[in-house]
Amino acid sequence: MKVLICEQPGELSYGEKPVPDLAEGYSLIKIRRIGVCGTDLHAFEGTQPYFNYPRILGHELSGELLEPNGAKGFTKGDRVTFIPYFNCGVCIACKAGKPNCCVKINVFGVHIDGGMAEYVTVPSQSLVHSEGLSFDELALVEPLAIGAHGVNRARVQAGEYVLVIGAGPIGLGVIEFARIAGGKVIAMDINAERLEFCRTHLKVDHIINVAEGDVIQQLNAITGNNMAEVVIDATGNQNAINNGFQYMAHGGRYVLVGLQKGEIKFSHPEFHKREATLMSSRNATRADFEQVVLAIKEKLIDPNHYITHRVQFDDVKQDFEGWLNPANGVIKAMIAL
Ligand SMILES: NC(=O)c1ccc[n+]([C@@H]2O[C@H](COP(=O)([O-])OP(=O)(O)OC[C@H]3O[C@@H](n4cnc5c(N)ncnc54)[C@H](O)[C@@H]3O)[C@@H](O)[C@H]2O)c1
Ligand SMILES: [Zn+2]
Ligand SMILES: [Zn+2]
Repeated sequence: MKVLICEQPGELSYGEKPVPDLAEGYSLIKIRRIGVCGTDLHAFEGTQPYFNYPRILGHELSGELLEPNGAKGFTKGDRVTFIPYFNCGVCIACKAGKPNCCVKINVFGVHIDGGMAEYVTVPSQSLVHSEGLSFDELALVEPLAIGAHGVNRARVQAGEYVLVIGAGPIGLGVIEFARIAGGKVIAMDINAERLEFCRTHLKVDHIINVAEGDVIQQLNAITGNNMAEVVIDATGNQNAINNGFQYMAHGGRYVLVGLQKGEIKFSHPEFHKREATLMSSRNATRADFEQVVLAIKEKLIDPNHYITHRVQFDDVKQDFEGWLNPANGVIKAMIAL
């Protein structure tokens, strides 16, 4: 079978590998779509921390189930996606029902070889039913589940102001599920084009461009001087994360979905007087995946808008570098095979 390997930063090459053997408890999938994630782009750039090369990238996947191999409730030919975070099942987090932050987690396409391949085998217990979704939609479930998980961590209540900082592919998922939870969403970014996308396609209540005007003043005007009950970072930008603390209402929650390498800094008295809660949000759980599938099925979300670039598997090598250039306006590049 054909695979695409990231040999080292800046170098992709097509190779041949045998179709993987079917081990006990694993299912065989013929890959049909691969969504390209910031993680894949950063791995290619060489800016993804703790990354080993060579590596087959790709974790936003959908395909046809060729061998269910005993997977309960699945039949040959089903359209599927799967949860690409393979957990140990025995560590403290797994035992606590948090496999998304397993101590020994292996993310498919990050810690182990992933889905830029014609066929993959995955643990049968990771499979997720299509419920009638298309291959495109199924490949968008994983990044949306990251957003759903962040919103679920915050326990957003109807009527609360939810400030989502960063309107990239991850932020879009956060925005969608904050709206579905009944939150009054404020989308914040420095990229006018992405904010415009939020206004037209996601129907957000308010947008704030950090590059234009006083942010605090705008937030006060929107929230009646209370600021946002929930702030969710989806930038992964250190400055943005540090600034986010002051946008929280008294009694507020701050969820970090975005990730950066440095240290977070905030004023303790400001944090204390709010009796604020700070949380990180890692990956997503099966419940989040199922919530996303249902939301697409019920047309609460139409993520097809996110796909700005389409390419066949054979042409990925030549197009990949271009997706790193912000001028190309990529939200989601989708590979078909
Ligand atoms: N929680 C998880 O498990 C998980 C999974 C995937 C990705 N992530 C993280 O989510 C973050 C976002 O991912 P993405 O793919 O959407 O990234 P992205 O770079 O496409 O989007 C980030 C957005 O933040 C905006 N931004 C940057 N600096 C800003 C600032 N100072 N103020 C306001 N907006 C600013 C950018 O303009 C951009 O639109 C990354 O940090 C990524 O590592 C987390
Ligand atoms: Zn991803
Ligand atoms: Zn574990």
